[in-house]
Amino acid sequence: MAFKKGFSALVFAFPTVLGLVSPQKRAVCSDGTTVANAQCCNLVQVRDDLINNLFTNECGDAAHGALRLIFHDAIGIDPVAGGGGADGSIATFNATELTFPANQGIDDVLDTEGPFILKWADVLTPGDFIQFAGAVSLSMCPGAPQVKFVMGRPAPVAASPPNLVPNPFDPVTMILNRFGSVNISPQEVIALLASHSVAGADDVDPTIPGTPFDISPSTFDTQIFIDVQLRGTLFPGDGPNQGEVQSPVQGTLRLQSDHDLARDSRTACFWQTLATNQQQMQSQFADAVFKLSLLGQNQNDLVDCSEIIPAAPAFTGTPTFPPALTSADIEQACASSTFPDLPTEPGPPLVVPPIPQADDS
Ligand code: HEM
Ligand SMILES: *[C@@H]1O[C@H](CO)[C@@H](O)[C@H](O)[C@H]1NC(C)=O
Repeated sequence: MAFKKGFSALVFAFPTVLGLVSPQKRAVCSDGTTVANAQCCNLVQVRDDLINNLFTNECGDAAHGALRLIFHDAIGIDPVAGGGGADGSIATFNATELTFPANQGIDDVLDTEGPFILKWADVLTPGDFIQFAGAVSLSMCPGAPQVKFVMGRPAPVAASPPNLVPNPFDPVTMILNRFGSVNISPQEVIALLASHSVAGADDVDPTIPGTPFDISPSTFDTQIFIDVQLRGTLFPGDGPNQGEVQSPVQGTLRLQSDHDLARDSRTACFWQTLATNQQQMQSQFADAVFKLSLLGQNQNDLVDCSEIIPAAPAFTGTPTFPPALTSADIEQACASSTFPDLPTEPGPPLVVPPIPQADDS
């Protein structure tokens, strides 16, 4: 086996040595992955370190945090105010960016992911690392798409300006305008919110850290689009808190922004479409999240290393209403078609447990 690996490396290196082909050619990495660019092979060891030691093979708190971080770094760019976008400034200039109110909770993410950013600084810039970790984090979550990853982002030069990351209490128009200013459409905003299917809040209601946004926070399913369309009836903790509205299931928390985007005439029908369409949700999310990873960057300067990103386990379930809830509990918002009638998951009303926190152990 060792001989075979050495042999194939030689075969691939030989034409390069002779100057017959340009050096950036197909290569087979140590794990057997074939890549278009030999540079990408350096990422194999980083990927495996993240999977084994940061995410510990779970779609849990560390994976959720890595996914959130790609957004909070990338969205830090404005056509007028500037900012580098997906440049890693949220890590390098954390002393500034973590003071922004919308970045509440990112300190926890940097506590866990930060040491890996620093450990692999000779392989990936902070901007590359954050987008890479986010792409790899999705492979932990059943039902998630395989997203593209490109590398070569320069080191960040400055902190992002303040007030660029959306807050959960911002009105829909403000949120859509913020994304629109960086060329992300209302439909792409909704597609990006599929991320809230593997997510929860620590700080919206600080009395109940790790409270999930839907009933299945370890699965990248369409449940977030179903749960948020149901009539809210309760606060899971001591709510209402700023940016929080009532949720339909004990142990889950609803963001005001998710609630309003599900009911706004500009976005409600697309929201409803994604509620029962796993494949469309996957592909539209994958496209939108890749676009996010390019904010402030020129794709032509970046090397495609997508082959290094593993596929997530498949999601085999089907969309359902949570136990005891039916289409009578849907708040119909799309004017042109009715929310699909779904089977109700059997059993008594759920009390969804909190997501175990990465720093608990
Ligand atoms: C309208 C835009 C958005 C708003 C207002 C928003 C707001 C929030 C809030 C308030 C939290 C809870 C933070 C806490 O208290 O711990 C959260 C969590 C999260 N958000 Fe968003 N978000 C938005 C878009 C996005 C996007 C585009 C992504 C990724 C592509 C994303 C990924 C996540 C993830 C994965 C978490 C869970 C983090 C964890 O469980 O540790 N969000 N979001
Ligand atoms: C956070 O900022 C400090 C300097 O303010 C820096 O030393 C540290 O490396 C930064 N953390 C990361 C993960 O970049």
